[in-house]
Amino acid sequence: MAALDGHKKIETNATLLLTLSFLVVTIGGIVEIAPLFYLENTIEDVEGMRPYSPLELAGREIYIREGCYVCHSQMIRPMRDEVERYGHYSLAAESQYDHPFQWGSKRTGPDLARVGGRYSDEWHVDHFTDPQSVVPESVMPPYAFLADNVLRPTYIADLMETHRFVGVPYTDEMIENAELDFVQQATDFGDSGVVERYPGAQQRDFDGQPEVTEMDALIAYLQMLGTLVDFSTFTPDESR
Ligand code: HEC
Repeated sequence: MAALDGHKKIETNATLLLTLSFLVVTIGGIVEIAPLFYLENTIEDVEGMRPYSPLELAGREIYIREGCYVCHSQMIRPMRDEVERYGHYSLAAESQYDHPFQWGSKRTGPDLARVGGRYSDEWHVDHFTDPQSVVPESVMPPYAFLADNVLRPTYIADLMETHRFVGVPYTDEMIENAELDFVQQATDFGDSGVVERYPGAQQRDFDGQPEVTEMDALIAYLQMLGTLVDFSTFTPDESR
């Protein structure tokens, strides 16, 4: 057949095969990639998502520093066993302000995407101080030292500016108030307006100590995870 003869020519001529393959891959690549440059946003906006408060952002830094992502994921897959155990599957929007994202790739411990509100602050303090005291079979290492490390907001505004640089919509007002918000979210007195600036931010003394410690920041971060989107009212936009 003529068509097959034509194909034989391509298969037996390396230069022709490479040239035509290159053409096909180029066209395919353009068709897939080019539209992404014209879409303003590839993530469906979801009500409730907001940039992390200064204290939560600092807690997230500690999460990364301590390598918690090595044992924990933050990504609930849309499969029945996961949804029954952890709650609604993760939405792209829920990690839109994560630079870098914390999806993780291994679960030695449970997924943490919706751990916020699952335990009390005291439980977290006990668990970080001595995991086996609350979960006897746990293989998680202790992080008791976090409660001894007083955390000062010296670099928090710089960190927020860096996140703004990569696309997180921190306003000038948020950055101006960063140090005050940082301290006041972890103490149960004073009102800098942190809850108005970051709706849903939980303001209290997380670790029970007067100073703001790394433990406060990490627990503030964990207690926020998965709480920003209200899944009793959320319906996915199926037109996209
Ligand atoms: C060596 C692996 C390992 C590392 C590293 C690790 N964890 Fe865990 N984590 C576990 C395991 C296993 C469990 C389940 C048993 C338990 O609750 O202690 C767990 C449980 C938890 C839970 C309770 C989750 C739930 O839904 O019951 C939280 C919260 C948690 N870890 C936070 C952290 C944070 C924050 C860090 C980093 C500071 C961290 N973990 C580091 C292994 C680890």
